[in-house]
Amino acid sequence: IHGSDTLSEREVAGVLLNGLGRLEYRGYDSAGLCLSRSSTCVCSSEQPAVQDQFCPRLLKTVGTVSVLRELVDREMSPGSVNGANGRRAKCTDDSRRGSCAVGQRCGTTHVGIAHTRWATHGAVSVENCHPHVSSAELEFVVVHNGIITNYQALKEMLLKKGTRFESDTDTEVVVKLIHYLYSTLLEAPSESSRKTASASIPFEKLVMHLMRHLEGAFALIFLSTKYPGQIVACKRGSPLVIGLKGEYNVSERTKGGHFSKTDSAARITSSKLSKGATASLSLGRTRNLDSEGRGHDELNDSTQYFFASDVNAIVEHTDRVLYTEDNDIVSVRSGELQVFNVTSEFSYENEDEQMVVPNRQVSTIQMELHEIMKGSFPHFMKKEIFEQPESIKQTMRGRILNGSEVHLTGVREHMSDIRKSTRLIFVASGTSYNACMASRQILEELSEIPVIVELAGDFMDRLCPIFRSDVVAFVSQSGETADTLDALKYARKHGAMCMGIVNVVGSSISRLTDFGVHLNAGSEIGVASTKVYTSQIVVMVMIALELSADSKNKSARRIAILQGLRELSANIEKTILLVDEHVQRIADQLADDRSILCFGRGYHYATCVEAALKIKEVAYIHTEGINAGELKHGPIALVDENLPIVVFSSMDLTAVKVQSAIHQLLARGVRQRLIVVCSESDTQMLELVASREGVDVIKVAHTVDCLQSVLSIIPMQLLSYYLAVARKLNVDCPRNLAKSVTVH
Ligand code: G6P
Repeated sequence: IHGSDTLSEREVAGVLLNGLGRLEYRGYDSAGLCLSRSSTCVCSSEQPAVQDQFCPRLLKTVGTVSVLRELVDREMSPGSVNGANGRRAKCTDDSRRGSCAVGQRCGTTHVGIAHTRWATHGAVSVENCHPHVSSAELEFVVVHNGIITNYQALKEMLLKKGTRFESDTDTEVVVKLIHYLYSTLLEAPSESSRKTASASIPFEKLVMHLMRHLEGAFALIFLSTKYPGQIVACKRGSPLVIGLKGEYNVSERTKGGHFSKTDSAARITSSKLSKGATASLSLGRTRNLDSEGRGHDELNDSTQYFFASDVNAIVEHTDRVLYTEDNDIVSVRSGELQVFNVTSEFSYENEDEQMVVPNRQVSTIQMELHEIMKGSFPHFMKKEIFEQPESIKQTMRGRILNGSEVHLTGVREHMSDIRKSTRLIFVASGTSYNACMASRQILEELSEIPVIVELAGDFMDRLCPIFRSDVVAFVSQSGETADTLDALKYARKHGAMCMGIVNVVGSSISRLTDFGVHLNAGSEIGVASTKVYTSQIVVMVMIALELSADSKNKSARRIAILQGLRELSANIEKTILLVDEHVQRIADQLADDRSILCFGRGYHYATCVEAALKIKEVAYIHTEGINAGELKHGPIALVDENLPIVVFSSMDLTAVKVQSAIHQLLARGVRQRLIVVCSESDTQMLELVASREGVDVIKVAHTVDCLQSVLSIIPMQLLSYYLAVARKLNVDCPRNLAKSVTVH
């Protein structure tokens, strides 16, 4: 956050803590923050002179954001002295409000950064927790989302120069490196220049130099005592969004510090930054015209800027956001926001030309705060499971016209190219991959184009051959998963047409694809994906319908599926009612088991794999999802009377084969521990198990085959949830997991 003296230091800490709380699903090993204040003079239209700075304060702790909150409460209560976990740089007069010679308008600027960590490099410890600092005086301070892949080489270089390290993290290398670059690039600044208007190299240019050395994925936010009152961020590969609160103009400023243009549509104008000029996006200043019509800018005290990995952290403050792009550098100083983009070609001779002011749009986010609150539910996961009748409706809203025609604008616009493609390739990770598996059959059936489903990581390990005639779809809740994003960049490079199927609007995948479909399922906070899984299946079924819109001989089939879609929300609601209490009882019986097997085939192969993933993720019970056709080829060796087994029944051409698998299991003594999930209309299966005492049957509502998996997964989402509750586990933040994995 960057804000003015309308805030107190404790309020800034509160904003940071709330923001971290909203992002906690992304990581929750440890948390920390750094706060800094400075006074600024804004008496003239020239660059404001920084008069003074106060002590930066650093607080970090192992544990969740609530532990950090307790630490902040202890350390920042009136009269407290920094404890063992607090660090404060040496500072000037902490109480004095800035003043200047002209004596006009001076005020205090607050900057603060914070982080909640999901450990990648280095164990969970206070040393490895962010923010990381370059020195005991907190000269440079950073938080980082992502991974620096060449950090070892950089660390070795810095060790040779005598740099000392306190942590095992890649991030500490970044902050030590920027300090090193500062010292080497700066031509020995005098003590007075340090004290007044920071150093002779602009902070953003220093960050540009730093970026040249970094490989991997990163969104970095810096504070520095060398640049009081300024916050600079940069990004490549990891998400970074800027929230804007308060009044602002968007202007292009040219040489001499005067505005040449003000665009009320908040569109950032593009121009090259030529040597010596200060072309920039300028936000956070109001413009006054003097008697000669010349523009003078004035700091707007109420303007605040929020930098975050995800709009969830921002939504309670503002709905106006600016999404940054790879190689962007964003700087806020004295209420003014500037965005640059670093061009890939770098040479020291023309370094000013390496920083281009890019086209960026301020957009309005359509998200309500209650979406990211638990409401009356004990956990986000339960809330999201129960939200599915509504989230499915949102996914379909406006996309089924007159009840009989699917309309997906992006897909329709690219229809002729898709129809010409020789393969449809769906690339995803985790639950999103399982949703692709669940939809593959209907996509193939209706499009009559071969459909390939790929795990993003494996796709890249194999450097899968991709051709211009391929259409590649990237399916992701977050739109930020590093493996999936890499695959997207690779497919683009090889000339394929790329489609995005993502939930998070404005995410990297949604922006880098040629066209796509937003899931519109609403925010999903629980780490284990539930409502987005079912929305993904629905979207892919709708895509299959779009692709077969002209096919007369598929018309009856299409009508049946459309009917299924129309009734889906009601059927989900019915299924939740049918299964909720029953599943809770089953969970109590299975809570102490060490292993569970799930079998399904056809449409339900994906269901059994997804069910197993859910149970692993939140209940930590080893569970395998196995194609029922493979039972006899090996897994049956595991079967005995003690092992709990779940079988998903279907009423399509796999029905007889699944019944045969059940016969094989019963013949091996599986009785008390067999759970069958089937449609309430599945009379064959119901008759088969009716005569078997002890077999537990979970009946779900009935729908068309390609949507049955949307209903059959619901008892398993609930089972994993109730197992985790019965085992007293942290449902929404399972150990070692992060919702959005932006590292490899
Ligand atoms: C992580 C999460 C999974 C998720 C997967 C893909 O591994 O823990 O729950 O399914 O990423 O995420 P995406 O956002 O791309 O769907």
